[in-house]
Amino acid sequence: MAAAPVSVPRMKLGSQGLEVSAQGLGCMGMSAFYGPPKPEPDMIKLIHHAVAAGVTFLDTSDVYGPHTNEILLGKALQGGVREKVELATKFGISFADGKREIRGDPAYVRAACEGSLKRLGVDCVDLYYQHRIDKRVPIEVTMGELKKLVEEGKIKYIGLSEASASTIRRAHAIHPITAVQLEWSLWSRDAEEDLIPTCRELGIGIVAYSPLGRGFLSSGAKLVDSLSEQDFRKYLPRFQPGNLDKNAQIFERVNAMAARKGCTPSQLALAWVHHQGNDVCPIPGTTKIENFNQNVGALSVKLTPDEMAELESYAAEGEVVGDRYPQMANTWKDSETPPLSSWTSE
Ligand SMILES: NC(=O)c1ccc[n+]([C@@H]2O[C@H](COP(=O)([O-])OP(=O)(O)OC[C@H]3O[C@@H](n4cnc5c(N)ncnc54)[C@H](OP(=O)(O)O)[C@@H]3O)[C@@H](O)[C@H]2O)c1
Repeated sequence: MAAAPVSVPRMKLGSQGLEVSAQGLGCMGMSAFYGPPKPEPDMIKLIHHAVAAGVTFLDTSDVYGPHTNEILLGKALQGGVREKVELATKFGISFADGKREIRGDPAYVRAACEGSLKRLGVDCVDLYYQHRIDKRVPIEVTMGELKKLVEEGKIKYIGLSEASASTIRRAHAIHPITAVQLEWSLWSRDAEEDLIPTCRELGIGIVAYSPLGRGFLSSGAKLVDSLSEQDFRKYLPRFQPGNLDKNAQIFERVNAMAARKGCTPSQLALAWVHHQGNDVCPIPGTTKIENFNQNVGALSVKLTPDEMAELESYAAEGEVVGDRYPQMANTWKDSETPPLSSWTSE
């Protein structure tokens, strides 16, 4: 297994001055989506361990729980930890009255931000993302409120998650977008067509979520056997029987190459993301200190262009079976919002 670097490098994210650790920590699985919530003291220990190791870019959202992941982070950030981290959270997926709704209207944006600040126990969030785009609200209107929050010092930088290229452009024209969060891994490469070039053209930082393919690139098909009924991954197309059998070969090949290179498959999958450029920050999620240490070791894994190409051939088009999300959850896709001229709510 590749050793963790002595110090985790820092990188500039976007063009507005935000600096983060070159690898972040995804905190979602500590509280939500991936089985039952994990014990709070263990998760606080893990977050403190990450910060001490130099992984200071922490990723959460108000929808993780909902709310409980932000509350967990709020506890972990006490006692001087907050000053050492770059704190990113998100808004836009609401669960009012048990109904899931995507919202980007100004009143909601403001209330969501106030709620996050309170739960996190901070005066200001470093990076505030719109988690999903509200297709009923012109992006200019959502951005107008976010811009106000920047002016009031409640958020430092603005991000978007799962936004289309044209939404990114329209948003960026209202106020600079610092980072776009998108799924990017060896087996999820659709962002490369349109989104990545758009971010690069506009000087926007790229935050790669689920860089381990939600654990598949770490453990392969056997991951599914260990998932509890509440685990969201049970319902993802790529993890369904049939699809999984085919996808399993991708992992087997990654695993074999990792063995040849003297690293773990997780390290190889993360190294592939790190080699995409110095504007890309992967945020692997974990709930275990041992796995965290392994993932930081990915920063020391070097890949030649031939090795990159070989890895990519394992998960080339046609090799990966199943969408990233179930059809039902895909309603936010193609996040084009109405033109500003259509907005009459204010
Ligand atoms: N913007 C969005 O819409 C969006 C969507 C999804 C996720 N995210 C963010 O991105 C973060 C990362 O994504 P993710 O958690 O979905 O997926 P991921 O980072 O690709 O994979 C996480 C999974 O990999 C396992 N894992 C991690 N390191 C491992 C290792 N070294 N060996 C074996 N297994 C390992 C974890 O299990 P253990 O806990 O057992 O280590 C966990 O099950 C999330 O925490 C969240 O903050 C954002």
